[in-house]
Amino acid sequence: MANAPGLVSPPASCFRMRNLAPLGLFRPRLFVAARNVRRTRLWCCAAAVDGGVEEDHVLKAAATSSNPRLPRVVGMGSKLVGCGSAVPKLLISNDDLAQIVETSDEWISVRTGIRNRRVLTGGETVGGLAVEAAKGALEMAQVEPDHVNLVIMCTSTPDDLFGCGAQVQRDLGCKNAWAFDATAACSGFVVGLITATRFIKGGGFQNVLVIGADGLSRYVDWTDRGTCILFGDAAGAVLVQACSGDEDGLLGFDLHSDGHGQKHLNAIAKDEETELISSNNGAPLFPPKRSSFSCIQMNGKEVFRFAVRCVPESIEAALEEAGLASSGIDWLLLHQANQRIVDAVATRLQMSPDKVISNLANYGNTSAASIPLALDEAVRSGKVQAGNTIAAAGFGAGLTWGSAIVRWK
Ligand code: COA
Repeated sequence: MANAPGLVSPPASCFRMRNLAPLGLFRPRLFVAARNVRRTRLWCCAAAVDGGVEEDHVLKAAATSSNPRLPRVVGMGSKLVGCGSAVPKLLISNDDLAQIVETSDEWISVRTGIRNRRVLTGGETVGGLAVEAAKGALEMAQVEPDHVNLVIMCTSTPDDLFGCGAQVQRDLGCKNAWAFDATAACSGFVVGLITATRFIKGGGFQNVLVIGADGLSRYVDWTDRGTCILFGDAAGAVLVQACSGDEDGLLGFDLHSDGHGQKHLNAIAKDEETELISSNNGAPLFPPKRSSFSCIQMNGKEVFRFAVRCVPESIEAALEEAGLASSGIDWLLLHQANQRIVDAVATRLQMSPDKVISNLANYGNTSAASIPLALDEAVRSGKVQAGNTIAAAGFGAGLTWGSAIVRWK
């Protein structure tokens, strides 16, 4: 296959047991030749990040690519059976922001589609929102907390540096579950969702709660009009449940990361020197440091370019695995970052606007929460119905991006 910009043929050594080996979940007994042996190809979006690809950059990306992979394990499936969401009480409108930075409702809504966002205040926490969202998912799924085996807390902004998944598990009363935090910025929910299906398919788990929750307002520079207009806080959750292979609701997926683009979107750890602790003879014993994080720093144009190029490619790769064309998808559900990104991706995939789920006007970019939050609204409003197929895609800092083709219930 001829190379095209952003599409290169990987060396043969790129074949590996993705899906299975990383989690030690490969079970030869379950192995069945599948329908979806993929063409040897690699989507490489480095060019979208830096405007050009160096040779060694391509090879590095090839080594970490999610494609191609061996036929998947079949016999056990996983499906989405419940969802929930929660947002903070405080609503900040574009007009409110215009009081603190030089901007206007018109500028923000035309460039982003965002009109309002919710922001944590008072005693509200990321964990608290996560618990509320997860309760909604459990209730819809009619699953008792005791029957949950695993809680995956997808967040970049935990209330505790060491993660808050275990506290969420405690507060939900999921006493037979274990929990961990997963950080992949705005791709976090898609990563968590796919991880959940791996634990079910290969690990024998029955019920896995996947929660996307973030409080990016904590890391926003509220004097920077280039970033403060974009972000909001929220949580969303889904319950993923084991089912027979015939009912499998994860039809295809695709995941990527490329640290070369980290410079375009980050909130870096920074050390603050504190007083040196000295030994008796005055020599410094060690230089203790306290760390904090910078506010979110972003090159908006580069991130925009990366998203509109890499996201459609990723969705197309996941669709190919699913054996579907975009015309066979009922809903396009992207990470809610910017309406212009959503529209550009829909156009590229030739999906009509009435198939696009969007609620970013009300909440802005809520990072790992945005996909399950929008899904929950779409399900509860009756838009998304049982049996509908959804192409979901996350993208963001890292850089990370990925897609999942899922069936609702
Ligand atoms: N209000 C008014 N003017 C603003 C503004 C604001 N909130 N923010 C920036 N501007 C100004 C800039 O200062 C600049 O002025 P200048 O031409 O006098 O220098 C002008 O508007 C253009 O700024 P620019 O940054 O080039 O705008 P843009 O068209 O790229 O739009 C974003 C900025 C952030 C809306 C856009 O780049 C974007 O959405 N990128 C994707 C970001 C994203 O989704 N990040 C999260 C991914 S998970």
